[in-house]
Amino acid sequence: MPAAIVLDSLTVVRSHHTVLEAVSATVNAGSITGLLGPSGCGKTTLMRVIVGAQRISSGTATVLGHPAGARALRSQIGYVTQSPSVYADLTVEQNVRYFAALYPARRATAHADVADAIAAVGLDGMRDRRTDALSGGQHSRVSVACALVARPPLLILDEPTVGLDPVLRAELWERFTALAQSGTTLLVSSHVMDEAAHCDSLILLRDGRLVSELTPDELREDTGESSLDDAFLTLIRRQEAHS
Ligand SMILES: Nc1ncnc2c1ncn2[C@@H]1O[C@H](COP(=O)(O)OP(=O)(O)O)[C@@H](O)[C@H]1O
Ligand SMILES: [Mg+2]
Repeated sequence: MPAAIVLDSLTVVRSHHTVLEAVSATVNAGSITGLLGPSGCGKTTLMRVIVGAQRISSGTATVLGHPAGARALRSQIGYVTQSPSVYADLTVEQNVRYFAALYPARRATAHADVADAIAAVGLDGMRDRRTDALSGGQHSRVSVACALVARPPLLILDEPTVGLDPVLRAELWERFTALAQSGTTLLVSSHVMDEAAHCDSLILLRDGRLVSELTPDELREDTGESSLDDAFLTLIRRQEAHS
């Protein structure tokens, strides 16, 4: 599988504090990679590097063959930030149309793109509803639709399922799986280890350092734990015993 993102010894220092330290990892194209680790471990910072919003102190981040932040990447990446980024007083369709308008190169197909993006997150029945009248899960799906509308080959989703009930979470993961099957590359962060089960591969972070890069099955086999939460803890304890 070709690599969509390659991080090589990536180090980021923010306000004299080393937030990411020599992280090397790969995100494969056309699959879901989970970026997992406890709050404060550097997930958002890593995503900000990939979308070109965070200065790198040393090392490199290569995204779709370009250095992170390159102009050529602007229309290639959909980014859903951790905090809500849609307009509460606009309807679902108005929000998605607004994001579509940011990509003038796609003007000719904008109408179809908006309809497809809304359908892809299962909000067809809600297109005329104001965003502030939606449930938490529907709200997250509007953000994802806004990121999808330009049909970027790479989606960076920062904790999109946080605060959702289990049913909505499962629904959203089904959408992500469908997107990956249609060729989109997804990097999805979470601080909830259970979510790792939905991913094809995992990047596990702790305190700004890479703990491991592996598949959910490898994580279970390697640790002998069936719960991914316990497996992550086992990995960390093992590393601490060796350091
Ligand atoms: N603007 C900032 N300046 C300095 N340090 C920051 C800033 N934002 C976050 N940090 C620190 O960087 C570390 C990683 O944060 P973050 O990337 O947001 O982690 P996560 O998304 O995994 O919760 C934390 O220790 C946090 O305190
Ligand atoms: Mg974060």
